[in-house]
Amino acid sequence: MLNTLSGRFLILTVIFVMLAEVFIFVPSVARFREDYLLDRLERAQIASLAVEAGPMISPDLEAELLKNAGVFNVVLRRDDARQLALSSPIPSPISATYDMRDPSASTLIRDAMATLLDTQPRIIRVIGDPVQGAGRLIEVTMMQVPLRAAMLEYGLNVLLLSAVISVITAFLLFLAVRVLLVRPIKGVVDHMTAYAAAPEDARRIIAPSAGVRELRDAEVALQAMQTQLTGALKQKDRLAQLGGAVAKVSHDLRNILTAAQLFTDRIEGSDDPLVKRMAPKLVGSISRAVHLCESTLAFGRADEPAPRLDHVNLSRIVADVIEGERLAAGDDPVSFAEDIPATMMLRADEEQMHRVLTNLVRNARQAIAATHRAGEIAVTAAEDDTSWCIRVADTGPGLPAKAREHLFQPFQGGARKGGIGLGLVIAGDLVRGHGGRLTLAQTDENGTVFEIRLPKADFALSPTNG
Ligand SMILES: Nc1ncnc2c1ncn2[C@@H]1O[C@H](COP(=O)(O)OP(=O)(O)OP(=O)(O)O)[C@@H](O)[C@H]1O
Ligand SMILES: [Mg+2]
Repeated sequence: MLNTLSGRFLILTVIFVMLAEVFIFVPSVARFREDYLLDRLERAQIASLAVEAGPMISPDLEAELLKNAGVFNVVLRRDDARQLALSSPIPSPISATYDMRDPSASTLIRDAMATLLDTQPRIIRVIGDPVQGAGRLIEVTMMQVPLRAAMLEYGLNVLLLSAVISVITAFLLFLAVRVLLVRPIKGVVDHMTAYAAAPEDARRIIAPSAGVRELRDAEVALQAMQTQLTGALKQKDRLAQLGGAVAKVSHDLRNILTAAQLFTDRIEGSDDPLVKRMAPKLVGSISRAVHLCESTLAFGRADEPAPRLDHVNLSRIVADVIEGERLAAGDDPVSFAEDIPATMMLRADEEQMHRVLTNLVRNARQAIAATHRAGEIAVTAAEDDTSWCIRVADTGPGLPAKAREHLFQPFQGGARKGGIGLGLVIAGDLVRGHGGRLTLAQTDENGTVFEIRLPKADFALSPTNG
């Protein structure tokens, strides 16, 4: 009960209404006392008028008049000369005098609270203005006990009434909250649970139905999100199927092409001049097709195996990569430079770092070769307390706009003739697998710089080695 929305509303409403009633209770009790005393003064004033009929009234009549007025004594001053008075014996001395001529609110409240707390049977004197301007002053003496009893009764009634009001209000609010909030919220939650069980089922998408605007907004937002999610799931599913099919096709195609590659050697040796002229082009085409299949297969592997971290010598890897690329460059006017401390040891997967650097250096070489002008590729490295930083810089033409816009997006960034657009994606994935980042540090007509940053703390990696 305490943990439900409606339950909390119920209890809070009772508390708040009771609190409000306390604030009302104090002034209203003070007001009740004031009315009570003024009423006594008025009754006493009427009783005192009997004295004017004749100066000598019988003691019996005087006693009856005072009893009806509820006071012991009355003195009504008409003017300086005349005054009317009724009196009877007072059982004990007067203990307090209250002036009801223009009292302040705080005085009234203070006196009322004092009266409520005072249990002694006291006699009090009350002074006031006569009603209807019928004199200068009126003064009565009376018992405090009946006043206090009347105040207590009144106060209890007020409290009882407020209790009843608060319980009724709270109950009505409880019902309102249940109908307006709790039920619709529960409906939305049920919907979400049902949807989560089968998010690809479009029939389970919520149809906004709440009458409360805020809830309806939430439902509409939820509907939009579910629609989008269901659509995305369907697309993903289709793409996954497509990916599976492409992987199979690539696999078989590569096998077929590899077989074809074996024959090209023989064809190259042919004496026919036409065949001799065509053979290198055929070889090139088949090699590119094999590369396409292999790259597609490599990308299709759901996850690269986690890097097997080892202490590896970076300058050795770089030398290896450069050697391979120098061979591939052939007669192209590309020069290579490296500036890596011979002792620099990385904590990385050697084979994967090799692939990353090969991809970057090869891209640079291909970009320079395409310009038919001389160019240089430089690989440098530095380290600080937290990371290693390896830079591959070239003096090539810079990344084409298409490659820049689709940087690190599979199949989309390829702007090179014969390129697939997977090299950078794979390199980026491998570096991320090391907990690091591959970024494009600079690219313009003067050249391009890619930067690999590898963290020294390998908290994000599973310790597969050492
Ligand atoms: N150093 C560079 N200088 C100029 N352009 C570059 C450089 N590196 C990459 N590019 C451009 O970015 C594109 C994407 O490179 P990426 O390596 O991802 O694919 P690719 O080389 O076309 O194909 P592959 O998958 O065979 O590597 C390239 O086609 C090339 O246009
Ligand atoms: Mg490439």
